[in-house]
Amino acid sequence: MRQVTLLNIYEHPITQKYVKRSGMAHAISVADNALQLAEELKVHPDLAAKAAFLHDIGHYTWYQDGEWDFTSYKENDIHAIKGAERAHKLLIRLGEDPKHAKEIALAVLLHTDSYLPAGTLFRSDLQKVVALADEMDEEPPGDHHYRLISEKKARRKITELDKKIDHTLTLSLQSKHA
Ligand SMILES: [Fe+2]
Repeated sequence: MRQVTLLNIYEHPITQKYVKRSGMAHAISVADNALQLAEELKVHPDLAAKAAFLHDIGHYTWYQDGEWDFTSYKENDIHAIKGAERAHKLLIRLGEDPKHAKEIALAVLLHTDSYLPAGTLFRSDLQKVVALADEMDEEPPGDHHYRLISEKKARRKITELDKKIDHTLTLSLQSKHA
């Protein structure tokens, strides 16, 4: 039903390189949270899960002498901007609907306001779902990025999420035609 599944995204070398850098376990947990929140807020489950899974794909490694350099990170980080672009390019390459790719990229761009000048950010429901799903999985001081997951477990969880998305989409399609 969907042109691109989470498993397609997971298996791509770009995802393996960049999502692993910021934490595969975190990305999968956030996708899981987003899927649950999407149901509550009536947001498109596929877009929510994909944006949540890819939300940190723009991270750079902020290491200084083997330690994460928070000062440099706070001053120079633009991971949401880089991530939005990277996620968009990847999705288009995989054959994602361009409208969906744009919505997912925007949700990645706005999942945090840490890089923006102070002010109020008005988020759409999809963007709220992704930001909230991320906050739910955060462990100070950034430990969520270091949680590990085996390849086997990651694949199993991703496949389960794909099944949940397909199931929700089938149900909403059936209720439209009922
Ligand atoms: Fe995150």
